[in-house]
Amino acid sequence: MDRPIFQYFEEDHRRLDQLLANACAVDGKVDTECYHRFRTGLLRHIKMEEKILFPAARKAANGKFIPLADKLRLDHGAITALLVFPPDKDVIKVLNYILVQHNQLEEQAEGMYDICENLTGEYTEDVLAQLRQTPEVPVNPFNSSENAFEATKRALSRAGYDYNEILSSI
Ligand SMILES: [Fe+2]
Ligand SMILES: [Fe+2]
Repeated sequence: MDRPIFQYFEEDHRRLDQLLANACAVDGKVDTECYHRFRTGLLRHIKMEEKILFPAARKAANGKFIPLADKLRLDHGAITALLVFPPDKDVIKVLNYILVQHNQLEEQAEGMYDICENLTGEYTEDVLAQLRQTPEVPVNPFNSSENAFEATKRALSRAGYDYNEILSSI
């Protein structure tokens, strides 16, 4: 079956995975330019989901609430908070861990992309056109303050993750 929306997002997940892997390819040192492409690409990806895909699905469902969307939004909050930090080994480990779980909830059978694709079937071309036109998200400089770190840990906790627990488990 043709699933253009699913394919669009799945390809973007793989592209971002590759950018993150390339950013960390050399002896644990982070390639700043490559990480910048990953960071801006991931923020654009989240914007496409939150501003175009999820609302289009909800509209197609006559405003009916999609339960999984709440969890995914909380994950997006946690991921966005992690992208505020200068990328070190720990931040990247936690990001990777959350992205694996998150992408699975979106890609798995009857996951968010399936739900959205089924609901928006008759508007697929329109949704795809909007996705393709989504511009990059401007980014702020990194922030490594203690306040930002505490806020990030809270964002992770709202999404059901514990920063230190993730680090000690991998
Ligand atoms: Fe997402
Ligand atoms: Fe996604």
